[in-house]
Amino acid sequence: MSERQTVLIIEDDIHYGEMLRDGLEHFGYHVYLAYSATGGMDIIKQKKIHLIISDINMPGINGIQLAEKLQEMYLNIPIVLITGLQDISLVKKAVERGVSDYLIKPIKLEDLPVVVEKNLQMKNIESQMLFKNKSEILVKALRALMRALDAKDSYTSGHSQRVVRLAMKMARELHLSEDETYILQLSALLHDIGKIGIPDKILKKAASLEDYELNIARDHPIIGSEIIGEIEELSEVASVVRHHHERYDGSGYPDGLKGDAIPYFSRVLAIIDSYEALISDRIYRKGVGKQAALMEIKANAGTQFDPELVDVFIKIMQDQNGQSMEMDDDLSKNIINLSGSSKESLAG
Ligand SMILES: [Fe+2]
Repeated sequence: MSERQTVLIIEDDIHYGEMLRDGLEHFGYHVYLAYSATGGMDIIKQKKIHLIISDINMPGINGIQLAEKLQEMYLNIPIVLITGLQDISLVKKAVERGVSDYLIKPIKLEDLPVVVEKNLQMKNIESQMLFKNKSEILVKALRALMRALDAKDSYTSGHSQRVVRLAMKMARELHLSEDETYILQLSALLHDIGKIGIPDKILKKAASLEDYELNIARDHPIIGSEIIGEIEELSEVASVVRHHHERYDGSGYPDGLKGDAIPYFSRVLAIIDSYEALISDRIYRKGVGKQAALMEIKANAGTQFDPELVDVFIKIMQDQNGQSMEMDDDLSKNIINLSGSSKESLAG
């Protein structure tokens, strides 16, 4: 993925902000400029941002509060604070709250690309950490989490495993690398883990939900990301999980992210998740046929779903039409058995 890196500058001093923007554009970055944290947040919800450079002192929400808000949203965007020497003690506190780096005023423009690249690199290293640490203990911990979900709600754990299988087909069609595939696999498996925190009378209700019940049920992506976020190596998975119910047009939940601002794998999972739910039988309704489900997905391309990803999904589902749903050998080899070999009921 060699897309152009996008930097958001948040600076209430208009001239200073413009100077930074011009400097970064000169070095080839795509730059957005906001004059307040609130304005910056609007951009974050609508555009894919790779890195944020924000002033620490601003009227309204300051740079540290912004970092806290971002940490809560599990967007994993590195944030570099601009500070004066007098605020250096504040910066230490900020680093504990997810701020990745700081720049002390006056900033030398020629230093900017070094700081930007360093912080973008750090993010890459973090995601590689997960891949290197694919340790036995992590797999066991995840298996334990899945057991907990299965005990709570066997439909959801079975659904999650079927979502994993389809996600692996998407991974291949999208030419994901091995570590990207791993992150997508874990995200697919864990996307509904937050349902552990939803009361049974809501989770298993046969009739349609009251508004207040719907609001509680809609907390599951938040609860899920908080559970997974406890494991530092899984921060990217936590991000995908939190945003799997966002909609492409910005009307989803929990954060109302729009278009490319929604993490890529969340956009992939949203399609598979809906498809799998549509074709499944539930207590209160029978599943629809596969073709009808695909038409439903297609009808919601551009509103609920990323239209480009819908095209990919429809292509793989039609390619396998008439073929067995069994995975071919080379694909299944890449999938780690997280459910435990003796626990067939997880798939049911
Ligand atoms: Fe969900």
